Amino acid sequence: MCAQKITVVGAGHVGATVAQYCALEELAREIVLVDIIEDMPQGKALDMWESAPVSLFDTRMIGANDYGLTEGSDIVIITSGLPRKPGMSRDDLRDANVKIAKEVTAEVVKASPDSIVIMVANPLDVMTWVAYKVSGFPKNRVMGMAGILDTARFRAFIAEKLNVSTEDIQAMVLGGHGDSMVPLPSYTAVSGIPLPQLMSKEDIDALVERTRKGGGEIVALLKTGSAYYAPGVAVSQMVESIVKDKKRILPCSVLLEGEYGIEGTFVGVPCKLGANGVEEIIEVELNDEEREALHTSAAQVKEQLELVEL
Ligand code: LAC
Repeated sequence: MCAQKITVVGAGHVGATVAQYCALEELAREIVLVDIIEDMPQGKALDMWESAPVSLFDTRMIGANDYGLTEGSDIVIITSGLPRKPGMSRDDLRDANVKIAKEVTAEVVKASPDSIVIMVANPLDVMTWVAYKVSGFPKNRVMGMAGILDTARFRAFIAEKLNVSTEDIQAMVLGGHGDSMVPLPSYTAVSGIPLPQLMSKEDIDALVERTRKGGGEIVALLKTGSAYYAPGVAVSQMVESIVKDKKRILPCSVLLEGEYGIEGTFVGVPCKLGANGVEEIIEVELNDEEREALHTSAAQVKEQLELVEL
């Protein structure tokens, strides 16, 4: 099972990495990489295609500077936009990236009116809302990638701390993709063993804090941009669940309309992802502290939405 065509808008580090992971898993017959920089997406697509005989995939890789070749895509992943530089918050990117997201979304709607859109640009929850508003697509067909990345970071830190396999760690991170995100130790387990049985509260708190600041930690190290390996593979996991109709429960940024007592904003919560996109929003039980943290995070996203001019 795979899609006929996937488009990745933005052929920078994130876009190219998404395309590569999707190709390695043969999640589409064809992947179109679009970027405004002349020849660059064509060069990256050709390079990836030339890796196919070694990596053993048959997904055709195509580069383009406009949307003609993207027509009729099943899934469109939007990665275009400026990345953070050291010292910047994701919200500092808002106005520049809103402008790009609006233009890109309008092109996506024209070329692929039936597509499912996955937003990846920052500030993530705001950009996903922009794509939703500008596209006019139903809410099940517009979602943002952040939760899988944040959860993967939390899982990686736990694996390191406990010196155990990453494979056995299940974790949950809710909220906006910012420093107010809400890692949930109570829904985090190693091979089914709740994390609080394996680690002291102080250690858990330290890993929660590192997870919240995980994106900034990479930006501070790279100095010229933000993370792309973990974001890239996180997107491919969402794509896989959609194109194979796997119905995995994955944390994604989606429009809440009353779920968790939150209304009219995009924020990360566990969702069922299948052929119809976001097929269900799962409401997990939260204690008072977790609920308050989620509401604070959602309120911060909403504040940003109010500053956006569509
Ligand atoms: C991160 C950025 C890309 O979390 O949002 O790495």
